[in-house]
Amino acid sequence: MNESLVSIPARGDLPAAQLNVKRAGSGNALLLVHGFPLNSEMWRNQFALAERFDLIVPDLRGFGKSSPLVEGWKVADFADDLASLITELQLESVILCGLSLGGYIGFEFLDRHCQLARRFVMCNSRAAADDLVTSRGRRQMAERVKNQGPEFLQIEMAPKLLASVNIDRPLSPSLPELFAGIKADSVAITQLAMANRRDFRDQLGEIKVPVSLVAGDDDRITPAAEMQQIAERIPESEFDVVPSAGHLTPIENATRFNQILLRLS
Ligand code: MLT
Repeated sequence: MNESLVSIPARGDLPAAQLNVKRAGSGNALLLVHGFPLNSEMWRNQFALAERFDLIVPDLRGFGKSSPLVEGWKVADFADDLASLITELQLESVILCGLSLGGYIGFEFLDRHCQLARRFVMCNSRAAADDLVTSRGRRQMAERVKNQGPEFLQIEMAPKLLASVNIDRPLSPSLPELFAGIKADSVAITQLAMANRRDFRDQLGEIKVPVSLVAGDDDRITPAAEMQQIAERIPESEFDVVPSAGHLTPIENATRFNQILLRLS
């Protein structure tokens, strides 16, 4: 696995940035977009797919080893960063695979850069915007993390992330590995971006690319039943529920998850 910094040009008021990108393999380009507040290491079990894909695994701006975020950042700005990355790497199009926040980014990407996506793999995510309670909780977390730092995140998020069967099981990468190096300002800015994100439910019928939806059978954050409803409204879709998996399906049941991706190679 090669790791390098890719320069993303400035856009309007947004500064230029460097995205840390892991890359390996050959075949169809597969861009893996991590969830919040994680980084590219969450896809460690998918690095094996480099045997069949040209794997591109970035740290989003603000996360891992990439440049910091700026105030007022939007979910659409993450999508525009990914479009710039694809252009910088001189690729025509990619299979875009995003988990949770990565899925929110995926919907913006399809809306803004549809020609760059050959397929969208939406993992453990949703199309709806936040309700009032959720968006209020995000604003509270944004304030709290600025005052207290990010250490409480793992303690408070961990019980909701994993399926019951995985709570006491060793996972690779482990939760402490996944939550290492998180920056308070990235958490605060991204929470506000997610609180303000668009609702894509009314646009599902207009999606022009095939969409594969992957849910965890014990995901309490983005339940499988809600993902099935999304699948039913997208013209060309397939839907898989992965057993023994909560919100982190690619980690909790990597074998089954990778089998689903291999169908697309
Ligand atoms: C994620 O895994 O990216 C988060 O659960 C997204 C969210 O907070 O809605």
